[in-house]
Amino acid sequence: MEKKNIDWSNLGFAYMKTDKRYVANYTAEAGKWDDGAIVDDDKIVMSEDAGVLHYSQSAFEGLKAYTTKDGHIVTFRPDLNGERLQQSCEGLEIPKLSVEQFVDSIHKVVEANAAWVPPFGTGATLYVRPFVFGISPVIGVKPADDYQYRVFTTPVGPYFKGGAKPIYVRISDFDRAAPHGTGNIKAGLNYAMSLHAIVDAHNNGFAENIYLDPATRTKIEETGGANILFIDEDDTLVIPKSNSILPSITRRSLAFVAEHYLGMKVTEREVYLDEVKKGNFKEVGLCGTAAVISPVGKINDHGTDINIASGMDEMGPWMTKLRSTLLGIQEGEIEAPEGWIHRIM
Ligand code: PLP
Ligand code: COI
Repeated sequence: MEKKNIDWSNLGFAYMKTDKRYVANYTAEAGKWDDGAIVDDDKIVMSEDAGVLHYSQSAFEGLKAYTTKDGHIVTFRPDLNGERLQQSCEGLEIPKLSVEQFVDSIHKVVEANAAWVPPFGTGATLYVRPFVFGISPVIGVKPADDYQYRVFTTPVGPYFKGGAKPIYVRISDFDRAAPHGTGNIKAGLNYAMSLHAIVDAHNNGFAENIYLDPATRTKIEETGGANILFIDEDDTLVIPKSNSILPSITRRSLAFVAEHYLGMKVTEREVYLDEVKKGNFKEVGLCGTAAVISPVGKINDHGTDINIASGMDEMGPWMTKLRSTLLGIQEGEIEAPEGWIHRIM
């Protein structure tokens, strides 16, 4: 298979239309999802009154396909994305797709777009975006009858400019997710409400927003598109615990890698902004499929800078080790735990 003629090493995180996508439909009449198929058409035709357009009934996932050192194409723990999409569907009253069909859809769409999977060593990957939404008309506030599930792919480079360079973020005055709301699922609406906040952050020179818990505004939750990791003075990996943050697959994988590959201590607990202000953490990072691990060098808290000890010049030693071990596993250079790597071809 001949690869597309793309300057792989200079890709940003942007949409590029690739050849094939996967589509499956659910109708209330059939009471189930159809078998789905790979199609060419990237356009969606729907009613002006489709549920997704009015009451934001949509959820999505994000994962990546990698070319390994020995030339295979693989995805990373797609079953966990399938399980999380089911949780998102439960929260939004969307009929659940089976994890088997989800994993099969990822397999088929990556296989069909193999020419778009960036070669090993370019720093780029094929981002895979599964999403599901209410497509039939709804006017009273209720779930739609019919749904569509789609998966498209797009080759991407680093989410933050500069790749692994430390970023400058701010503590946000906007809230991301209410305590008993939808913060723990990947609902499109969680991102809609972050758009004004991210534009405002960018306009003020910050790469991302750190959201605090809305109830007390004292605890660190996560950013708009990634979970947060801390390294404390004892070299422990500290992970904020909250019911209203997304259970990041990258973060869960990194916790395992930290403990079992790097021999680190890992703690999941509430993390107070005050601890960050006191300088209790020597490294801070954002983690997620898109972000991988992006180091945070400086945090602005209402005009006052909190300088993280690892600084703005380069990624700290623990984040570097975590990042390279995870990437090594994903790209086939380090042996993966059983079941983590799904080989496409
Ligand atoms: N938190 C938010 C709000 C996200 O959008 C993402 C990205 O998917 C993550 C965390 C990281 O999750 P994952 O590692 O499963 O990609
Ligand atoms: C991902 O990491 O897959 C996400 O969905 C985050 C998004 C901000 C791009």
